[in-house]
Amino acid sequence: MNLPEKEYNISKINMGTFGKDFVWGTATSAYQIEGGYNENGKGPSIWDAFCTIPGKIKNGDTGNIACDHFNRFKDDIKLLKDLGVNSYRLSLSWSRIMPEGKNKVNEDGINFYNDIIDELLKNDITPWVTLYHWDLPLALQLEDDGWLGESIINNFVTYADVCFKRFGDRVKNWITLNEPWVVAILGHGHGVFAPGRVSEVEPYRAAHNLLLAHAHTVDHYRNNYSSQNGNIGITNNCDWREPLTESQSDIEASQRALEFFLGWFADPVYFGDYPQVMKDRIGNKLPDFTPEQKKLLKGSSDFFGLNHYTTMYAANKNGTEDKTDVHGNGGISEDQDVSLSVDDRWKLTKMNWAVVPWGCKKLLHWISDRYDNPDIYITENGCAFDDKVVEGQIDDSDRVEYFSTYLAACEEAIKEGVNLKGYFAWSFLDNFEWNSGYSKRFGIYYVDFETLERIPKSSAKWFKKFLSGQIS
Ligand code: GAL
Repeated sequence: MNLPEKEYNISKINMGTFGKDFVWGTATSAYQIEGGYNENGKGPSIWDAFCTIPGKIKNGDTGNIACDHFNRFKDDIKLLKDLGVNSYRLSLSWSRIMPEGKNKVNEDGINFYNDIIDELLKNDITPWVTLYHWDLPLALQLEDDGWLGESIINNFVTYADVCFKRFGDRVKNWITLNEPWVVAILGHGHGVFAPGRVSEVEPYRAAHNLLLAHAHTVDHYRNNYSSQNGNIGITNNCDWREPLTESQSDIEASQRALEFFLGWFADPVYFGDYPQVMKDRIGNKLPDFTPEQKKLLKGSSDFFGLNHYTTMYAANKNGTEDKTDVHGNGGISEDQDVSLSVDDRWKLTKMNWAVVPWGCKKLLHWISDRYDNPDIYITENGCAFDDKVVEGQIDDSDRVEYFSTYLAACEEAIKEGVNLKGYFAWSFLDNFEWNSGYSKRFGIYYVDFETLERIPKSSAKWFKKFLSGQIS
């Protein structure tokens, strides 16, 4: 069994390695923080609807109010300024901008995001804007099955066009999609996220349309908005998969798991097609790209956006029929034939995700090797712990350790030649953690969901010191 290769020393990070142009930020998403779910002309999204189904969300929580960022964004941006980040990653709510997902534009929605963007720029914080972080306009789900229908591609390009036109004079960093893997697997496979579909085939169809919507949007941006001089890319999520043993079959299992997880979405973007191992195993459940689509996809990201949280061991499963094994972020497990496990010695977060900083470094190398050393931005990395307010303070030393050890692993990766250019901590605020509701806190700022007061945790104080170069 592989052992953790080394412990990372919290006090040893050297800010200098990251360089003066390094992008430092925190990340959030619209549905998780905004609230204002039906304010000023916003239309419903699939998450608004999903949250009304009894039993889907822990404690029956909803994003109706969330962190009330809708009304408090100015004060929130003051907190970001105080933290010292140079960038901030947010997402736009499609149904706030286009309540039915198409046709009519809601000017109040445009104004809302204009105000946020202007406020960020006024504070010297560069916005990184994600167009789609899972909150599809409900109308599009009802009309043509959302990501399963073909009309989604044109609708997404049309929505993106509104965003480029109205915000692109000031927004220079665009992310088309956040974690299409989650939309496909959790939304259309396991059914635990909106739109709640349960299927072994639909994840592949949804993924196909997500990839095409991404590629057409990038093409549209490059053809029509090149004068805005912006960058556009996609953010994918992936854990590291460490071979359980040194056997050839486990080494192959870990490679296969990574290709099913990340290669599924990154290979089309870098090579123009799905990994061969997926084609071989999935057969005709996996749609084909036409030659024109392959051309459009290849090279469709200016940077490699990565969300990374954890690591698991991967072992060859040998075809054992275990349909219940949906452990971890594996994908459709029976198609991969990989069993996943964790090491008892690994510390677990409240999500039960293991804290394994060296896995982050290995994944960065895997990406660099496979995709020819692209510029990588970690667009999310973070952890949930049981944060408690004691005499007005939140001492989240577990989170400080998480960030500092993962950053130490990132520093090492940079020294070894990985082109890591940015890092966004997930998350700025405690927020609506999807089907876990408010029960999982990821923020570096604590949010009291009764009073909506924000309190900096120790990790925010640590981050502030770190960003000002006082920890090295
Ligand atoms: C990511 C997602 C975020 C956040 C985070 C923690 O997959 O993009 O919205 O929920 O995980 O679970």
